[in-house]
Amino acid sequence: MIALKKVRFTELVLRDGNQSQLATRMPFSDFADVLPELDKAGFASIEVWGGATFDTCLRYLKEDPWERLRQIRKACPNTKLQMLLRGQNLLGYRHYPDDVVRAFINRAVANGIDVIRIFDALNDPRNVELAIEETRKQGAEAQAAICYTISPIHDLDSYVRLVRQFEDMGATSLCIKDMAGIMLPDQAEELVRAIKAVSDLPLHIHTHTTTGMAMMSLLKSVEAGADVIDTAMSSFSGGTSHAPTETMAAALEAYGYDTGLNQRQLKTINDLLSPLQEKYLEDGSLDPRVLTTRTDALVYQVPGGMISNLIAQLKMFNASDRLEEVFDEVPLVRKDLGYPPLVTPMSQMVGVQAVNNVLGKERYANISREIRAYIAGEYGRAPGEINPELVKKVLGDAEPLQVRFADTMEPGLERAKKDAGPLARDIDDVLSYATFPQIAPDFFAEREKREQNIQKYTIRRLE
Ligand code: CO
Repeated sequence: MIALKKVRFTELVLRDGNQSQLATRMPFSDFADVLPELDKAGFASIEVWGGATFDTCLRYLKEDPWERLRQIRKACPNTKLQMLLRGQNLLGYRHYPDDVVRAFINRAVANGIDVIRIFDALNDPRNVELAIEETRKQGAEAQAAICYTISPIHDLDSYVRLVRQFEDMGATSLCIKDMAGIMLPDQAEELVRAIKAVSDLPLHIHTHTTTGMAMMSLLKSVEAGADVIDTAMSSFSGGTSHAPTETMAAALEAYGYDTGLNQRQLKTINDLLSPLQEKYLEDGSLDPRVLTTRTDALVYQVPGGMISNLIAQLKMFNASDRLEEVFDEVPLVRKDLGYPPLVTPMSQMVGVQAVNNVLGKERYANISREIRAYIAGEYGRAPGEINPELVKKVLGDAEPLQVRFADTMEPGLERAKKDAGPLARDIDDVLSYATFPQIAPDFFAEREKREQNIQKYTIRRLE
């Protein structure tokens, strides 16, 4: 008997699907009932945490992200739980000191995370090394991700070099992360082949349906030897989200792959999700525009989320008619900055600078604080050369930082313990504060008030 070819699935509906279509606004109470069914489906892992989870939970949903994770863990005892971590940036937009990074990973694993997918926006391996080491130390899977981008300096060799560095650092699996959904099927096939030729680590493929390329690229990746693909349940698939889980499973099974998934169980799950889709469409939290295919990125190579940000920024300046100029400016800014991949936070930074350049008196008349820090080396090493004139303009005769930015930072955990205030109840609260000091205190105060109200109400009822 011929052994079946195997491919497994990571389900994204709760994190990236939710983030891409609903700006992560799906509250826990809406998806709690789906969890036990997801747990029975046979996924390699379910992505449940990371990315914008903290920002949205604390700021808008007034949910404790740690409690959310514990509840998911309880409801899904049989499936690996996965999170996305921005390397030294954790889930935020700036670098954190090493002791905060270690403590955060320690607590993420203690609260239930099994797989941590770790990336750096610049693909600077120095910014993922500590996170990989700590993840292994805590007994979780350290998945190192390549931010996929297209530029004159990003060739197969550059990605293969990165893979070798990830292996040396102790990564337990690899991921190609195509946040903009711009990886063409033939590029996917080539890159998977090239990586598989140098590494035996399991390879995961993450892409978005933004440009309509995803299903073709995933199929070609699997044929070329990828081990796991990322998909989202059909009710929250497509557009800025991902390839539909059920569809990819059916297609691959027809080609003789064992996916470990059961179509009946997938239907049970989606029957629970589709009323949520209807509800979000009705209340406006799901904008139908994110559900369609947008091919702009094939020309401009910018992620879908960035396009909507640019439109919003221009609207603020009453300059919506200048979108085409901004689109033309983005690749020029990217070139000046040494071709950073357009992923958080670089995508936002490049977008803002492109708008400044188009609306300002001249290009770089106004350089954002973040771009100045980037040029100074505070985000890591730029993939290519930064325009020397721009470096001179920002740094004068000063040299950019040569060491890792975190090496210049004071330890932060003890200070966060002091500064978090009396409403921080445990180490998890302290870490919420350390990573989001502007919004965590409001959340703590609100939680306190909510619980006092419940108590008062209960006492009144008893009396
Ligand atoms: Co993504």
